[in-house]
This record gives sequence, C-alpha cells and structure tokens, in this order.
Amino acid sequence: MAERRKLAAGNWKMNGTAADMAEIETLAQERSDATCEVLVCPPATLLERLARACEGGPVVVGGQDCHAEEKGAHTGDVSAAMLKDAGASYVILGHSERRQDHGETNEIVRAKTKAAWDAGLTAVICVGETLSEREASNTLDLISGQLAGSIPDKANGHNLVVAYEPVWAIGTGKVPTTDQIGEVHSMIRAKLEKRFGEGVGRSVRILYGGSVKPDNAAEIFAVSHVDGALVGGASLKAKDFGGIIAAL
Ligand code: G3P
Repeated sequence: MAERRKLAAGNWKMNGTAADMAEIETLAQERSDATCEVLVCPPATLLERLARACEGGPVVVGGQDCHAEEKGAHTGDVSAAMLKDAGASYVILGHSERRQDHGETNEIVRAKTKAAWDAGLTAVICVGETLSEREASNTLDLISGQLAGSIPDKANGHNLVVAYEPVWAIGTGKVPTTDQIGEVHSMIRAKLEKRFGEGVGRSVRILYGGSVKPDNAAEIFAVSHVDGALVGGASLKAKDFGGIIAAL
C-alpha cells in the first residue's frame, strides 16, 4: 500500500483580504522543501488570486464550501465547478460551523460531496462531536453516523480526506488527549476499511482539527492514524502555519 502523504490544511474561514496573501507567499518561500502537502482554503473572494499566486509552488488551494448543484438560482452560493474553475483542487465540506450556522445535515454534505467529485475536487469532510455529546459518551456513535451519512459511495484515497474536529476544541485552545484523538481516528479508519475495503480505507487521509498550534502539533501528529491537520486560526500566519508544517 502506498504511504499516505501527510496533509497540512489551513481553513481561513471568514478571514483574509488581498493583503493577507503575503503570508502565503512567505510560507511558500520558507516551506518550499515541505515533504507534506500544504493546502490553504481562503474565502471565495481570494481563491482565484491565491491559486494564481501559488501556481507551480508547494501550496495548493481549496474552497470552504460548495453548493450541491452545478449552477442556477442560488444567490450567494458557489458551485464546485466554479471552485475548480478558480483554481481549487480541494473543498472543505460539512464543517461544524456550516452544520451549525446553515443547518447542514449529513444528507446535504453527501450531496455536496458528490458535486465536488463530479467537478474533480477532493472533499475534506468534517466530522466531530459537541462537548455535550462527548459528555454523554456519544462521540463514537455520533461520528459513525456522520461518516455513514456524509460520505457517498465510491470514496477513495484521492477524492476523500476526513477531518476529525471536536466542536469543543475549535478556536478554544482546548485539545483532546492523545488517547481521545487516537480512539476516534482508529474508529474512523476501521469504518472506512469496513465500508470501502481495506485498500481504500487505508489510503484515505484522516486529519485532526481543533486548536492545533506549533507547540502541540508534534504530539498530535505522533498519534496513530493522524495524517495531518486542519488548522483554523494558526493557518493565518506564515510563522504559525509553518511551525505546524515543520512538525509533520
Ligand atoms: O477547520 C479548522 C478549524 O475548525 C479549527 O480551528 O482555530 O481551532 O484551529 P482552530
């Protein structure tokens, strides 16, 4: 089985204007020798410019969401084909902020993932429990349901990345223990192998996301089945994101 290439993915969320692109230029220069794949998902307004600026370098770009339909009367939405056209190769789907703020269900995430695949994008599907779900010992069941409901058939190591992001760890500075991360990542791996077969299941990368910083990255990356990180706040500055990339 080919080794899974580590992935450092930055999710800028609703942050960043043209001036912030300098951070990525710095990152690309400083990490030109990175052995892992480096992905930056800026707001849609910067996607095309950033893709152009990153062309031929170590950084690839992605979207933060897409509509399930290819085009039509959906004011304010962006289709997967449009992301692709703007230079994206990835799209984050089912982030907990989309699930919470926009009522995205597993079914919606599944439909968006199919659209992403049709457009030739790799989907980074996010799953994760809230604090109350963890305290009620529902974490593994909840995430199993999110995986089963959100991932369409025909997943493989090229078109799918799974990101485990405990909602309570996002932007809070709180990080699960390495045992807790390991438990969820092993379960995700087992579910992927069971559903898609061992070869495919082992080829899909599983990222951890939630308060990853340069000073905790190495410990998190040492956990079995952690193939990289989906990073929010710390991906906005070249110094911080670069520190995380260096730990991969
Ligand atoms: O998608 C990344 C994210 O939700 C984690 O955010 O700021 O805790 O790294 P942050």
